[in-house]
Amino acid sequence: MLQSVARKVLPTGMRRALKRWFGQYLYAGSNAPTSYGCEILQDGVHPELLCGWQDPLVAELQEAAFAPLLRQMHEGRPREDFVALAEAVRLTGEADPLIVEVGCGSAWNSEVLASLWDRPFRYIGVDYSPAMIALAKRRYSGQPFVVGDATALPLRDGTCDILLSGTVLMHLLGYRTAIQESRRVARKWCIFHTVPIVTKRSTTILKKFAYGRAVVEIVFNADEFRTLLDEHGLRLREVVKNIPHEYLSEVMCETITAQTYVCRIA
Ligand SMILES: C[S@@+](CC[C@H](N)C(=O)[O-])C[C@H]1O[C@@H](n2cnc3c(N)ncnc32)[C@H](O)[C@@H]1O
Repeated sequence: MLQSVARKVLPTGMRRALKRWFGQYLYAGSNAPTSYGCEILQDGVHPELLCGWQDPLVAELQEAAFAPLLRQMHEGRPREDFVALAEAVRLTGEADPLIVEVGCGSAWNSEVLASLWDRPFRYIGVDYSPAMIALAKRRYSGQPFVVGDATALPLRDGTCDILLSGTVLMHLLGYRTAIQESRRVARKWCIFHTVPIVTKRSTTILKKFAYGRAVVEIVFNADEFRTLLDEHGLRLREVVKNIPHEYLSEVMCETITAQTYVCRIA
């Protein structure tokens, strides 16, 4: 209601500024949009930003936001990031792989792969939010799920064939450690799904609101990201085009693309 009135009476620039400043209060409830209020962080990161995703309301809103996208996929109209994920897994050429998805949320990517890749695979979902894992267990009751942090995975070395970092690297201040952990837990492949990329600016840390809670979002410089992969013994095999992150372009003053990186363990 408030939003539709604002849309009618306020110019676009003012609406955007209000959203950035007051979005936290406007959208604190169940009508919170996926992403808003992006700003570049200049003076360090408040610890609160690191646990935003663990709010149980975020788990429910995220699950609700993806329900219509899954319906669309089953009707034959999959979103670009779903297609990119299936293509990335296909490019590994693995048969019946064990896939560990880190940052699995309520694990809809297992449904995406079952539908769009359409090959046998085994799946374990990991997320640091107990609420996300509880939802995942309810929705996909036959599959194993673990509460765990991407920077200290509760899994043995070489556990899986494919470590899928599921749209999560960009939310990790400890992204270097997370890449190291991904490499440790994977036997053959690491897929870094939906990595926001710029080519001019260096890697930049932002704050944004996701489903009403403040979180970190990192936009990686393309060359710096490739160097990170090299440094961690990951050989880049393919980059699959993913859904663009337009909501970040304005604040970064540069076009942000999102890519899915398919890497072989060197
Ligand atoms: C943008 S969602 C991605 C969900 C899904 N994998 C996808 O590709 O769409 C990010 C997920 O990462 C999880 N997450 C954030 N920080 C994490 C961390 N430090 N360790 C593990 N999971 C984390 C969040 O709880 C959330 O479910």
